[in-house]
Amino acid sequence: MNIAVMPGDGVGKEVVPEGLKVLKAASEKFGFKYTTKDFPHGAEHYLATGITLPEADLKELGSFDAILFGAVGADPRGNARIPQGLIETDILLKMRFELDQYINLRPTRLMPGVPTPLANIGPGDIDMIIVRENTEGLYCQNGGFLYKNTPHEVANQIEVTTRHGVERAIRYAFEYAKQYKRKKVTLVAKTNVLRYAHNLWMRAFEEVKKEYTGIETDYHHVDACTMYMVTKPKIYDVVVTTNMFGDIITDLGAAIQGGMGMAASGNLNPTRKYASMFEPVHGSAPDIAGKGYANPIATFLSVAMMLDFLNQPAAAAAINKACKDVVADKANHTRDLGGTASTSQVGDAVKKLVAS
Ligand code: NAD
Ligand code: IPM
Ligand code: MN
Repeated sequence: MNIAVMPGDGVGKEVVPEGLKVLKAASEKFGFKYTTKDFPHGAEHYLATGITLPEADLKELGSFDAILFGAVGADPRGNARIPQGLIETDILLKMRFELDQYINLRPTRLMPGVPTPLANIGPGDIDMIIVRENTEGLYCQNGGFLYKNTPHEVANQIEVTTRHGVERAIRYAFEYAKQYKRKKVTLVAKTNVLRYAHNLWMRAFEEVKKEYTGIETDYHHVDACTMYMVTKPKIYDVVVTTNMFGDIITDLGAAIQGGMGMAASGNLNPTRKYASMFEPVHGSAPDIAGKGYANPIATFLSVAMMLDFLNQPAAAAAINKACKDVVADKANHTRDLGGTASTSQVGDAVKKLVAS
């Protein structure tokens, strides 16, 4: 398998090398072969070269079997030399959109031994699979300014919703539930206000669910969903939602599963026409970058998702199990989990278990 590697910026550069360490251990143990090619794109690369992601590189990236991605982005407090949102939209969203990675699969699971901010909630209570629509919605950059920089300025940002787009996301959620014997699929949207876009979501959901008679279904408005995720997360199994809401509720999901350092994701092109991309949910974390204590577990879990997608289920299962066993021991906790372990210590511990 040929894997493109794009560590990006900040802690992306710290967690991705650890991910490669774990991938190497898995390949030696399970006997699969792979090649890697590094891609330098990100905010730092842009500052040095003026380049975000040229078409030729995008095309090449699409031809790999998978992309292992870290995080891109500058400090959210602003960098005068980088136009707002340029790096994120021109690199990360460009790959998701142009490589038709229309599913963003974000499992939210609390592992034993990992602290959650929720009271009276244990590992069995948080186990949801969030299916985020990944190529439409508010992320399309369909909009613009009118009368810019006048007192009457108008900014429009249109939520693009297509039958094709929502139906394939919803269908994916049901197929996932069927394949992994999940009991329920919940649609999360805002039908009480977004009477066009989310009406379409609801109608598509109602139709598709008829094809999956054994699976329970539910609907929650997104505002209530954020409350339930905190008060009774157990009610969620598979959740399907829009691009924007999926972004927001998966950071909430990350928080309740132990933090951004625990949340993995796959940007999937299920048709396999183009490469799928695997990445931790978190960003470049400028507040802790360069200190050597970013939590690499989310990246390892993303590597496991990648191997699963590339038909190496035994290797994927071994990495998942190693992560679970490693975080069960407080000695392996990085600062975000209340410990003192370094990024590479956690990487070594996971690598050792995968190899054993
Ligand atoms: P962030 O995810 O980078 O950080 C949010 C918080 O989580 C910070 O306190 C950070 O220290 C913590 N955190 C993140 N990853 C961690 C890890 N591995 N271990 C321990 N703690 C971790 O979000 P932000 O600060 O809003 O954004 C920073 C930059 O990253 C922005 O430019 C943003 O656009 C970009 N971003 C990129 C991606 C991506 O590439 N997929 C995702 C989110 C944000
Ligand atoms: C994420 C990030 C991205 C998103 C940004 C950086 C474009 O927050 O992967 O969750 O909004 O999807
Ligand atoms: Mn996000």
